[in-house]
Amino acid sequence: MNRLYSERHIPVLLREVVENLVWKPDGVYVDCTVGEGGHTQAVAERILETGGRVIGIDVDSEVLQIAERNLEAYPNVQLFKFSYVELPVLLNILQVHEIDGLLVDLGVSTYQLKAEGRGFSFNQDEPLDMRMNLENELTAYHVVNTYPEEKLADIIYNYGEENFARRIARFIVQNRPLHTTKELVEVIRKALPYKEIHNRKRHFATKTFQAIRIEVNKELENVSKFLSFAPDLLSLNGRLAIISFHSLEDRLVKHAYRDDPRLEPIGDFIAPEPEEIAENRRARSAKLRVARRV
Ligand SMILES: C[S@@+](CC[C@H](N)C(=O)[O-])C[C@H]1O[C@@H](n2cnc3c(N)ncnc32)[C@H](O)[C@@H]1O
Repeated sequence: MNRLYSERHIPVLLREVVENLVWKPDGVYVDCTVGEGGHTQAVAERILETGGRVIGIDVDSEVLQIAERNLEAYPNVQLFKFSYVELPVLLNILQVHEIDGLLVDLGVSTYQLKAEGRGFSFNQDEPLDMRMNLENELTAYHVVNTYPEEKLADIIYNYGEENFARRIARFIVQNRPLHTTKELVEVIRKALPYKEIHNRKRHFATKTFQAIRIEVNKELENVSKFLSFAPDLLSLNGRLAIISFHSLEDRLVKHAYRDDPRLEPIGDFIAPEPEEIAENRRARSAKLRVARRV
C-alpha cells in the first residue's frame, strides 16, 4: 500500500460502544467494519485479560493493512478481508457458532477520504472511484457516465436527499464523460442555484457525493441484508451495536430494532457529547443504536 495518507481515523462514540457492546468478559465479538481498528482495539483491550476475542472484518484491503499494524499488540484479534454481508460464511469457516457482540460503524474511514486516489472526496481532484472494496467492478465513473438520467436523478434524490437531484442529473448527462471528482464538483456547481452553493451548511456537493458513494458500495442494501440475519448470529443477550451517519441508514436500524421480535432495543439512540463533536467533526451526525438478542 503506497498511497500517501497522514491523518489517523478517530473512532466515534468509543467509550459508549465499549460500555454497551462488551457485556461478557470472555465473549466473542465481531467488529464488522474494522477500518483503521480504533473500536477493535478498545474492545480487544477490555477483554484481553479475561479470555475474550475479537474477529475483525473489512472489505477494504488497504485499510486492513493499517489495522493490522495498529492491532499488532493484540493476540486476541483476528482480521479478515470480508464483507459483513458474508459474515455467516466466515463464521462457518472459523467454526464460530455464537457471537456475543456485533459492531457496525457505517460510513467512510478517514483513510478512504484522505488517502490519495480513492475518489471519495470533493476536496481532492481524483479519478471517480469511491469503491470501498477495490475488487468490485462498479465505480463512481461507471455510475456517473453510464446510468440513464432518470436513474441518476433517483439515486441523488433518494440517497442524497438532494432537492435539486433532477437538475444535477441533467447537467451530469449533458456534460459526460466526467473523469474526475473535480469535474463532478464543477457540474454540480453549474446545476445548483447561487444561494444553494453559498448558503448550505455543508459543501454543496456533499449530498450528491454521498448518493453516488451509497450506490457504488450498495450501502443501504448491505445494511438491510445484514439486519435480516444478524440477530441469528447472536447468543442470548448478545448485543448488536450500529453507528450510522445519516437518516437513511438510521431509519433502517431503528425500524429493525423496533419490529424484529429477535431484538430488544436498549434505550434510545446515543449521540456524541458536545466535547466529542468539538474534537471530531465527523462525529456530529453519528447515532449509536444498541439492541439485545432476546
Ligand atoms: C467508518 S469506517 C470504520 C472505522 C473504524 N470503526 C475505526 O474506528 O477505525 C467504516 C469501514 O467500513 C468498511 N465497510 C464498508 N462496507 C463494508 C462491508 N460491506 N463489509 C465490511 N466492511 C465494510 C469500510 O471499508 C470502512 O473501512
